[in-house]
Amino acid sequence: MSTTIPGDQTAARPTALAARATDLTKVYGAGETRVLALDGVTVGFGQAEFTAIMGPSGSGKSTLMHCLAGLDSISAGSARIGDTELTSLKEKQLTQLRRDKIGFIFQAFNLLPTLNALENITLPMDIAGRKPDQAWLDHVVETVGLSGRLKHRPTELSGGQQQRVAVARALAGKPAIVFADEPTGNLDSRAGAEVLGFLRNSVSEMGQTVVMVTHDPVAAGYADRVVFLADGRTVDEMYGPTAETVLDRMKAFDTKGRVS
Ligand SMILES: Nc1ncnc2c1ncn2[C@@H]1O[C@H](COP(=O)(O)OP(=O)(O)O)[C@@H](O)[C@H]1O
Ligand SMILES: [Mg+2]
Repeated sequence: MSTTIPGDQTAARPTALAARATDLTKVYGAGETRVLALDGVTVGFGQAEFTAIMGPSGSGKSTLMHCLAGLDSISAGSARIGDTELTSLKEKQLTQLRRDKIGFIFQAFNLLPTLNALENITLPMDIAGRKPDQAWLDHVVETVGLSGRLKHRPTELSGGQQQRVAVARALAGKPAIVFADEPTGNLDSRAGAEVLGFLRNSVSEMGQTVVMVTHDPVAAGYADRVVFLADGRTVDEMYGPTAETVLDRMKAFDTKGRVS
C-alpha cells in the first residue's frame, strides 16, 4: 500500500473534497462469478477541480463513478459526497441526494426523443418539482451554445449538440459534482473538443466539480489531474496533465504490462 492517498493531500491542496472514496471495495457476483471490481480504492475529488480517470477496460472506472454517485451499492469501505456517507442513507434519501447533488453524463446521450432540448435539460428538475434558477439556466444554455436549438428534438441535433444538451442537463440543477463516463466516446474529435471545452469552462468559470472517465489522452489533457486505475486500484496520478504527458505515462504502464 502506498502511504500517500491520491487526492487526499489536504496540506498540498487546501480545497475541500466534493467526493471521496475510502478503502472502497466493490464485489459483483459470488462463487465462480465473483468479480472484485474495486479493491480498496482511496481517492478524493477536490471542489472546482476537473479530474480524469483513466485505466484499461475493466479496471473499475465506471464502477467507481457509479458507487460514488449512489447508482450502485458498495461492498465495503466508504463513499462520501461532501460530508454525507452514502452507506448511511436510506433508499429515499439516496434518491434525493442523487437528484439534488449529482449530475451524470453518459457515453450514450440518454435524451428523451419526444422532448425538445430545453425540456430534456429541465426534466430532472421537473420530476423533482423544482423550479429552475432561470438566470443560471440561461447561463448554462448560452455557455454550451444551445440558445438557438432549444426547441429542437434530439433527432434534429448532431451528436455533439445532443451531448451538449446532456451536459446542460447535468449542470442545470447546480450539482455538487458531475460524473461523466466517457462523454466524448460517441463523438468525432471536433464535437468532442466542444464538449470537453465546455466541461473545462464549467470548472474554470462556474466552479463546477467534474470527474470524467476517458480513454483518450487528449480528453485527459483538459483536466486538472488524472487518476490512473488498474485492476480495481488507484496506481498513479498526475497533476497538470497534457495529452503528451498522459500518453507517455500510458506507455510506461504498457511496458510493465499493466495497461492494455
Ligand atoms: N453489473 C455487473 N455485474 C458483474 N460484473 C460487473 C458489473 N459491472 C462491472 N462488472 C465487472 O467489474 C469490473 C470493472 O468494470 P467497470 O467498472 O465497468 O470497468 P471500466 O469502466 O474500467 O471498463 C469488470 O471486470 C466488469 O466485468
Ligand atoms: Mg466503463
